[in-house]
Amino acid sequence: MPLVELHKEPDGSDNKAAFAKDVNEGLSKKAKSLSSRYFYDSRGSQLFQDIMALPEYYLTRCEFEVLTDQKEAIATHVGAEGFFHLIDLGAGDALKTKILLRELSEQQRSFDYVPVDISGHAMQQLTQRLRQELPQVQVQAVVGEYFKALEWLQENKSERKVVLFLGSNIGNFNPDESLAFLKVIRSYLGSGDKLLMGMDLRKEPKTILRAYDDASGVTAAFNLNLLRRINEELGGNFDLQQFSHYASYDPQAGAMRSYLLSRRKQEVHIEALNKKFTFGAWEAIHTENSHKYSLEQARELGQATNFSIESVFLDKNEYFADILFAVD
Ligand code: AVJ
Repeated sequence: MPLVELHKEPDGSDNKAAFAKDVNEGLSKKAKSLSSRYFYDSRGSQLFQDIMALPEYYLTRCEFEVLTDQKEAIATHVGAEGFFHLIDLGAGDALKTKILLRELSEQQRSFDYVPVDISGHAMQQLTQRLRQELPQVQVQAVVGEYFKALEWLQENKSERKVVLFLGSNIGNFNPDESLAFLKVIRSYLGSGDKLLMGMDLRKEPKTILRAYDDASGVTAAFNLNLLRRINEELGGNFDLQQFSHYASYDPQAGAMRSYLLSRRKQEVHIEALNKKFTFGAWEAIHTENSHKYSLEQARELGQATNFSIESVFLDKNEYFADILFAVD
């Protein structure tokens, strides 16, 4: 089955215009910022793959453990009531989802798999691999943003829906944004539908800090890649040597925050904006928040968005939770 593409921009112009506009706005503010949304060009996506393999980045391993050790129970919960669409938001290479796909087909559950991702390349590869590895699973990949994909689903797939939002991707949203995001997801779901969401839990701050400031500097390269991308796509002249990765954890907000610091006073020109930006010595550009949740907050989030919590799946260390939200 061909990919469904919901955001065709053959020349990439719209994407670039939006990127330019966001960069301009972010770097013109008093407290400068760039959106973590723009980390994931092809180099950024590769660096994130490398991050997931780091010894310090516990999140991926913990969620892998949850899915591996509790796949039977998870599959039984999500597959309980006849045919459903398994919708994987931000599927990527679906390494973790495959555990569930295998278990669901072993349990002879009736479903099709709808991976959704902004990367057309990733969805093409995934479709091909699944055809070889799990030929019994029906796959319909969708290329596009989450909400566009949910809208497409609304129009084209009327059966029961199980939405996966794994990997602590919710963490990039601020509390009010995650509330809004869940409300939108909920608005596309009906009785019997479910949402399985991966959430990184609060823990010893040193453990969290190490995960976002690894010894081998992969996370630093991932963060700095934003500037490289501005250079490449918008004709910027950032000197990457003159910026440093800095990560700090706010234990009250449960917020891991990442920055790029200007190591000296400097000016950067961006051709696409026809504009110069001045950076003071040690001025910071905020680039990412990665929120950590308590189970209590997860419960509150569910309550506020009209989901009930059907089940909480934890790893042995209780570092990470995959929470099954249900629509009553
Ligand atoms: C892909 C958003 C889950 O916040 O942990 C990893 C991205 N940033 N290291 C995260 C990320 C720095 C990651 N998420």
